[in-house]
Amino acid sequence: MGMLDLIERKKRGDALSEHEIRSWIAGVSDGSAPDYQSSALLMAMTLRGLDAREIDALTDAMANSGERLDLSAYGDCSADKHSSGGVGDSTSFLVVPIVAACGMVVGKMSGRGLGHTGGTLDKIQAIRGVRTQLSKSEFYRQLDTVGAALAGQTGEICPADKKLYALRDVTGTVDCTGLIAASIMSKKLAAGARNIVLDVKCGRAAFMQRREDAAELARMMVGIGKRAGRNVRAVVTDMRAPLSRYVGNALEVYGAIRILRGEERGPLYDVAIELASNLLGMHGVSDARARAERAVESGAALERFDRLIRAQGATEDVCAQPQLLNKARCRQDVYAAEDGYVTDIDAMQIARYVCDIGGGRRKMDDAIDPYVGAELHVRVAQPIAKGERIATIYANDPSRIRADLMQHAVRIGRERTDPIRWIREIIES
Ligand code: URA
Repeated sequence: MGMLDLIERKKRGDALSEHEIRSWIAGVSDGSAPDYQSSALLMAMTLRGLDAREIDALTDAMANSGERLDLSAYGDCSADKHSSGGVGDSTSFLVVPIVAACGMVVGKMSGRGLGHTGGTLDKIQAIRGVRTQLSKSEFYRQLDTVGAALAGQTGEICPADKKLYALRDVTGTVDCTGLIAASIMSKKLAAGARNIVLDVKCGRAAFMQRREDAAELARMMVGIGKRAGRNVRAVVTDMRAPLSRYVGNALEVYGAIRILRGEERGPLYDVAIELASNLLGMHGVSDARARAERAVESGAALERFDRLIRAQGATEDVCAQPQLLNKARCRQDVYAAEDGYVTDIDAMQIARYVCDIGGGRRKMDDAIDPYVGAELHVRVAQPIAKGERIATIYANDPSRIRADLMQHAVRIGRERTDPIRWIREIIES
């Protein structure tokens, strides 16, 4: 059956068979399916949608298009997490050591930041000496010795997804829920963990802005994972304001370490505990939340994070001295221009500003400045007085400091609004 026939049938709204989808992905992998025909098929799929059988076949075919990690040695203990990406979203630095401290094994393969969302690899590399390009044997060895790793891809995972994603990016076919679900879950299935928690963001700085769309994507991904025999849960979380008080690569690691040291709490802690307790719960731990909280209180999670970064080459003791991460040459405080209540903190504006001063990249090969960023001193719904400090900007080039942009991002009004409900929904099936 030729590609043209698949395109025609999908254009009419027919469901493709498992065999047809597998042949197409084989063609994508070996180059025999031309990009123009794959693009047309992706557009027909975007317009007509995919049913569960098609999504499962696509996910499985992409998961099998490259290397797969074998975590079977860890039995039911292996864990993984995925975040659909946000601002100040550094939950991996908490969830990974928390669940590792509770006996699970977490080999998390992460990516770099692009656009307004930060990437775990960029953040952890703000710690001097830390390496993220681990070979497969280094990755497995670290799982044996530390129980946790935060690294880039160890081999070529899902090359067919990589090719298709590049096509989707330039053909207006990214925003198809079935294609997104298959793309994300193919990588999670290939990464091998038995227990997977998905943090699906909604709100202005999220990939899916409407909560219902995020929940639909979450349900689809949970379904794919379960049908493939994995334990999967999704947590839909709000991403209208930064999750952490800190935005910027080194600053976000600093904020996470402060939480692990018991020096701060807040929404980042709450969401991380929710994600960690879902992983522990899927593994059958009955007092999962209490165990996750105790891992932080007892210092066990901090100790695990310390071992993880040392195993990956850290040359500075940031767990004992987190202030070593604050290396920006200039700081400027920003003050409230009026009395009232904080009604909104615009994650998108703050992320764009941090990107503009060097903290993010517009193209994949841009260099980033790990030390620039912003620290927020206020939360939505709190009262505020004119002249009170609302934020601090960290920069290396004083001419790029824009207090007015931060003032604009932290909105103040006369009426008190409700605090943000960060955890919106837990999806188990
Ligand atoms: N992230 C992915 O990995 N794939 C998508 O399709 C969208 C977001």
